[in-house]
Amino acid sequence: MASGGTPLFIFIVLCISAVKIDDFIKVECKSKNVGHYGQQSLLECVVKTGQFVTDPNIRMVAWKKLTSPEDEGDLVLGFQRGKLDEPKRGYRFAEPSWDEKNMNVSLLITNTAVADDGDYKCMVITDSGDDSMVTNLEVQARYSILTVYSIPEKIVPNTDSTLICESRGGYPQGTIHWFDEEKHDWTGSSEMEVTQSDDGLFQLTGRLHLFRGSTFQRYTCVVLNASGVKEDEIIFEMPAPPRLTPPSGPEPIEICKIVVRLVVTGSLMVGLLCVLLFYRWRAQREYAFLVSLI
Ligand SMILES: *[C@@H]1O[C@H](CO)[C@@H](O)[C@H](O)[C@H]1NC(C)=O
Ligand SMILES: *[C@@H]1O[C@H](CO)[C@@H](O)[C@H](O)[C@H]1NC(C)=O
Repeated sequence: MASGGTPLFIFIVLCISAVKIDDFIKVECKSKNVGHYGQQSLLECVVKTGQFVTDPNIRMVAWKKLTSPEDEGDLVLGFQRGKLDEPKRGYRFAEPSWDEKNMNVSLLITNTAVADDGDYKCMVITDSGDDSMVTNLEVQARYSILTVYSIPEKIVPNTDSTLICESRGGYPQGTIHWFDEEKHDWTGSSEMEVTQSDDGLFQLTGRLHLFRGSTFQRYTCVVLNASGVKEDEIIFEMPAPPRLTPPSGPEPIEICKIVVRLVVTGSLMVGLLCVLLFYRWRAQREYAFLVSLI
């Protein structure tokens, strides 16, 4: 039995190595690439060749944007028969003067849009074999808060009101959170509306309902990105409650306190300086006296 198994084993090993030699072209891509909206994005792929491949030439490259894992995809950059197929605008080889000898077939997206988010397939045919690989671009855009305001515009003490916080320009979808000045989270009492503009960026509108008698002096609206990291915040100051005695400008007592403190520290320094000068003057006199004795 054992002697019958050995030739079979050798046969299998030979088959595997034959396949391997034939398959000595491999497209290797970074599995995850992050791109920022409006900036350049790099989808990094290189063609690796086995040790038996010398001087490989690339015959064809096709970079396709996939809309689903099964679909054929849209060609965004193609190269065959020694020239580029009319590439889609804004897509090119990352290597500035790429040619069929260059194994770095990375794709550069010059002005990243939300629509560029997703999977890409890089297919390569060389004179020593072919391979393809799927890679992914994750597009991110940073949220900023435009404004926070109240309805009614002038909050009347002891009536209900709503704070509204508007944030836009982010991707993927983030969230709006509310905190009071003691850092209590009020997000649970708020609502968030999400809309997406034509360019795919999200606009988030947060609404925090304030009921009479339960208001703090200050509320902070915070926008978090899809990973829960703070991207922007803005503070809304509630109007001060009306005072019983009308305020009379800056409080004179406070100003007096500051002036007194300045004078005290100032005169203390002057006093110290006087003491020092006096000691120096006395030491010099004693020295002069001793010298005159000699
Ligand atoms: C491929 O080329 C791009 C653009 O020149 C470069 O940023 C990247 O590091 C290169 N990748 C490799 C693996 O050489
Ligand atoms: C959220 O922000 C952090 C810090 O800026 C960043 O590292 C992370 O990639 C962002 N996540 C998303 C999904 O935008």
